[in-house]
Amino acid sequence: SKQPILYSFPENDALQDALFTFVLSHQNSALHRHHVFRIAVSGGSLPKMLASEKLLTSPEIQWDKWQIFFADERAVPLDHEDSNYALLKSELLDKIPADKPQPTVVPIDEKQLNNTQELADNYEQALVRYFAAKDSVKLPIFDLILLGCGPDGHTCSLFPEHELLRENIAWVAPIDDSPKPPKSRITLTLPVVTHALTVAFVATGEGKKEVMRKIFDSENGEGLPCALVNSGSRDRVVWFCDNKATEGVLYQ
Ligand code: 6PG
Repeated sequence: SKQPILYSFPENDALQDALFTFVLSHQNSALHRHHVFRIAVSGGSLPKMLASEKLLTSPEIQWDKWQIFFADERAVPLDHEDSNYALLKSELLDKIPADKPQPTVVPIDEKQLNNTQELADNYEQALVRYFAAKDSVKLPIFDLILLGCGPDGHTCSLFPEHELLRENIAWVAPIDDSPKPPKSRITLTLPVVTHALTVAFVATGEGKKEVMRKIFDSENGEGLPCALVNSGSRDRVVWFCDNKATEGVLYQ
């Protein structure tokens, strides 16, 4: 019945075109609803996939209405090579033509880097300022969250079998034992991800083939963070993949 939507493209160009159209339509419906477009993005290959020529130059993209948050971030300075902010800046933000109105970007607070709990609390407070007081809304509702999928099935900094998957109070949580370096990070929690109006994953390449098969197999993929997003968000999840990643996926 209410299943995630899975698109598979032969080439990245076609994927990027479809992603652009998708993001534009979600921007437009968000602006129609509340005059701002609240989006969270991950690191990995996602910023580059998102930053197509079409997106960067389209007159229909209203950058000044975008509020961009990070689905997860590493506890490093904003100009560090591991920073997701630095990645987004070099892949996308710096490429938005300077004569266009610029988006609002909400990075972590560099003053809290040595304490990930404070770093997470501080980022949660930033979300509270943009979304609403935490006691008036249980969870923030992002218009769109754009995520990658790790070969182990992780997404954001939510890793398989990690206790953080059970967090159900915080909006943003610290992790100091990330199986993938760097060890110290902060991440949106699973309930925040599944509460978003729409979640989109981008997963390409042969390296994703095995995990994609597991994620879309209810018996083997159960418990993988990406599968938990699928079951939590159902038809509010859309996957943008290439044929290499979806080879062998049984989708019914
Ligand atoms: C991290 C990475 C990671 C990444 C996925 C997908 O924080 O460890 O950013 O979460 O998004 O592994 O990566 P690709 O999109 O590059 O395949």
